[in-house]
Amino acid sequence: MASSTTTLPLCTNKTLSSSFTNTSFVAKPSQLFLHGRRSQSFKVSCNANNSGEHEKNLDGVDRRNVLLGLGGLYGAANLAPLATASPIPPPDLKSCSRAHINDKEEVSYSCCPPKPEDLDSVPYYKFPSMTKLRIRPPAHAADEEYIAKYQLATSRMRELDKDPFDPLGFKQQANIHCAYCNGAYKVGGKELQVHFSWLFFPFHRWYLYFYERILGSLINDPTFGLPYWNWDHPKGMRLPPMFDVPGSSLYDEKRNQSHRNGTIVDLGHFGDEVQTTQLQTMTNNLTLMYRQMITNAPCPLLFFGQPYPLGTDPSPGMGTIENIPHTPIHIWTGDNPRQPHGENMGNFYSAGLDPVFYCHHANVDRMWSEWKQTGGKRRDLTQKDWLNSEFFFYDENRNPFRVKVRDCLDTKKMGYDYAPMPTPWRNFKPIRKTTTGKVNTGSLPPASKVFPLAKLDRAISFSINRPASSRTSQEKNEQEEMLTFNKIQYDDSKYIRFDVFLNVDKTVNADELDKSEFAGSYTSLPHVHGDNTTHVTSVTFQLAITELLEDNGLEDEDTIAVTLVPKKGGEGISIDSAEIKLVEC
Ligand code: C2O
Repeated sequence: MASSTTTLPLCTNKTLSSSFTNTSFVAKPSQLFLHGRRSQSFKVSCNANNSGEHEKNLDGVDRRNVLLGLGGLYGAANLAPLATASPIPPPDLKSCSRAHINDKEEVSYSCCPPKPEDLDSVPYYKFPSMTKLRIRPPAHAADEEYIAKYQLATSRMRELDKDPFDPLGFKQQANIHCAYCNGAYKVGGKELQVHFSWLFFPFHRWYLYFYERILGSLINDPTFGLPYWNWDHPKGMRLPPMFDVPGSSLYDEKRNQSHRNGTIVDLGHFGDEVQTTQLQTMTNNLTLMYRQMITNAPCPLLFFGQPYPLGTDPSPGMGTIENIPHTPIHIWTGDNPRQPHGENMGNFYSAGLDPVFYCHHANVDRMWSEWKQTGGKRRDLTQKDWLNSEFFFYDENRNPFRVKVRDCLDTKKMGYDYAPMPTPWRNFKPIRKTTTGKVNTGSLPPASKVFPLAKLDRAISFSINRPASSRTSQEKNEQEEMLTFNKIQYDDSKYIRFDVFLNVDKTVNADELDKSEFAGSYTSLPHVHGDNTTHVTSVTFQLAITELLEDNGLEDEDTIAVTLVPKKGGEGISIDSAEIKLVEC
């Protein structure tokens, strides 16, 4: 196999600590990022001026290996149970009420938008004519001219707050998020929640669409595009410098002070700092991106989140990217421990008060586009309940509109696109770390003995039977093999994370994720949903393991070893049962 070298431009920030020096990176590239089976090494460069060249190298990487590993694994959509439901309508502004942070605390101000004059005939939005696409740049690479424009637009938006009822004001824009996410609206008699479900991607896409147009109109620039926080690339794995300048309109006081000045972001952050090197953190990040975009999201609902038609309870379940890294980046950025609820970024009601929120979500939105380019069954959902769900927004001329999910599926039709950046996670298929072959499943307790599990307060390993082994590629094409945990229960006002590994025992180093044995993570962010609910939530968690079984040489095994490692809040997690199922996408 021919060998190819991929260079990741890095180290543009001068404040990196000494354990992360240029020489240690350049000296032994192949040891750092060697992924043996592909004969491909990742070399890291610290010269900011030649990044263009390196990016070309990265783009030149042959992706066929990755795609071959994925080809044809995924079955057809299975949508029958929801055929008779109906889409979520736009929120009823008349009944907008006080948002709450949790069941005891209300938000101290109203998050409701100003009511339009003719509430009952809010028109559908039509895309204005345009001549040129808005191109959203990667934030870390933006030039001074761009930053100055963006700062100016944001400070003008902040000035509009002088009229607290101006829908274009910065606080009113932030309150949009608060109202849609902290229980200010009701639909179908239940609280509306745009997170933890398939509304996550389309809601935020429309939200940013209007926010971007408002900023552009405030500086008379119809081509202004929001920057994206390129956290899926090593160069962007830190708070973008333009947001870290005190006194600038892009700065926010309420951020975790130990995560400023170039600290490497942990895309799996759940409150605790992982004691590992910055290089390991970045390696873990690329592994998490590979798992969330590719391995664990072969089917649309796994990527977008669970169905949320009118009349059903909010928060049916997150998609992979909402789960990780979207949520960890919120928590990582928010001001823990100085603020009571991780404000601003660490709580939905306040997240929009930090300008970096929109930059973070631009990259979340970019992941939607990237995922669709990854092939297999990775396409937009086709359910009418999703396509016809609606939201309410004001445009840049202060006119109120209703918008539909079906109109936000193509960014170019909406008038914007992303400046391309390499996506090194695509080529980051983890390799096997277990050298001893198959773990002896006979020495492990079977799943039937371990479950129901009262608490996940320490790592546990068990053996579990597969419904079929040695599956043919056609069988894999028709049905995805899913490791399934039923009725996971915990207090959903707490932070939760546990990780899942295959074919290892309890001694696994769970701080190093870059191995094919790492299957994925379950996480939960404290949140409010619905009235009269207890905090005990009960969810099903599924991991697509077809590719992992191949990568770990376990395809012919009838029984495999599974290890769960609690990372946050494990004492409070109980799990009813575990099984492996074959399911269509
Ligand atoms: Cu609406 Cu990132 O949250």
